Amino acid sequence: MSKRDSALAALFDAARAAQGKAYAPYSRFHVGAAIRTPSGAIYSGCNVENAAYPQGACAEAGAIGAMALAGERRIAEILVVGDGDGLCTPCGGCRQRIREFADAGAPIHVAGPEGVRASFTLGELLPHAFGPEHLSA
Ligand code: THU
Repeated sequence: MSKRDSALAALFDAARAAQGKAYAPYSRFHVGAAIRTPSGAIYSGCNVENAAYPQGACAEAGAIGAMALAGERRIAEILVVGDGDGLCTPCGGCRQRIREFADAGAPIHVAGPEGVRASFTLGELLPHAFGPEHLSA
């Protein structure tokens, strides 16, 4: 396995492990996300739902929180894994959350239980995005 393949495999394994911790009694749709930062570290998160439905949090938000807590501020790539036949692409809100810490070229890998199904760049999923640099005069 190439270095690149093994790095992606590690990201997938972390996301799958996180997916196993998902708290999703309402949707029953378990999601895991894993971020690799430029340092090489991996941070993961799972979705955590709530009886007051809108208060639920996506897996990507949890992974970003873990990254920030560790003092890191850049997303090199992110992998999201969900069940079902469809592509578990990040929701609109999470695309913007990722945008805060990632370049337009950052890969977003979308996986099912068997492995990566598709890879996009952030720019493809959130074109012409508003970001932190718009606020600096
Ligand atoms: N969900 C995520 O955590 N990430 C995604 O990329 C898509 C959707 C969660 C939110 C909710 O808990 C459940 O999946 C169903 O929408």
